Amino acid sequence: MPRRDLTEHLLPASAIGTLPRHVAIIMDGNGRWARARGMPRSMGHRAGMDAVRRAVRAADHFGVEVLTIYSFSSENWSRPRSEVDYLFSLLRQFVERDVMDLHRRNVRIRIIGSREGLGEDIVALLTYAERLTSDNTGLTLAVAFNYGGRQEIAEAARKLAEQAVRGDIAPQDITPELIGRHLYAPDLPDPDMIIRTGDEKRLSNFLLWQSAYAEMVFLPEYWPDFDELSFQRALLDFARRERRFGGLGERRTRKVAER
Ligand code: IPE
Ligand code: IPE
Ligand code: MG
Repeated sequence: MPRRDLTEHLLPASAIGTLPRHVAIIMDGNGRWARARGMPRSMGHRAGMDAVRRAVRAADHFGVEVLTIYSFSSENWSRPRSEVDYLFSLLRQFVERDVMDLHRRNVRIRIIGSREGLGEDIVALLTYAERLTSDNTGLTLAVAFNYGGRQEIAEAARKLAEQAVRGDIAPQDITPELIGRHLYAPDLPDPDMIIRTGDEKRLSNFLLWQSAYAEMVFLPEYWPDFDELSFQRALLDFARRERRFGGLGERRTRKVAER
């Protein structure tokens, strides 16, 4: 059943406090949501698509710069073939049905992940979505599809090794910054906040490199139940946190300076 757009009930962005530039979401719990209703897992994935639309609307409302969604992990290939096929068909549907609307709303789509193992047709669709929206200046929606954090880092290492073998770089040139520049989307800022729904508290190979200082928010609700208000709750939680990045934090630094 389609739900109402809740954006009109959200606080204005100015009332939240410090906002994250980049929010990344591990959309988990589709299968359990369906099972709780006596439905096949695929129905949970389908209902999850509406939650994606709500997340995009909320990110837009709050003026978040980048929203990354974890749609299919490199480990999700180990699921039954029928479920993998269904997840691929949903991605196809998403591009076919939603991309024009996103384009009209000035959303820029990026795909992160490996293209290996994907059919030519799906690669062509993903490339189409990226190209169509590449000049848009609103929200960046990064879709992590066939994505694995370890694979991403290994691919970067491989590219740097090739450059070293060619003599284009020396081993001592390899720094965290240089590695960062060889990841799938080097131009995007690191996620400030990672939300995981479905009550599991792990990263499951998501943005391992980029999450070094991300604030983690774990939500008990299953992904198909996620809505604009869930997004707002996560933002309010984020705004209350003090990020220290290994330092003393603002309050403590002030106290030390006063001494
Ligand atoms: C998340 O929901 C969607 C994907 C991994 C593609 P799950 O399918 O993992 O749902 P649960 O965790 O089994 O409930
Ligand atoms: C993470 O969820 C992957 C996506 C949301 C796409 P999983 O359900 O695959 O993670 P695990 O297996 O519980 O760690
Ligand atoms: Mg899961």
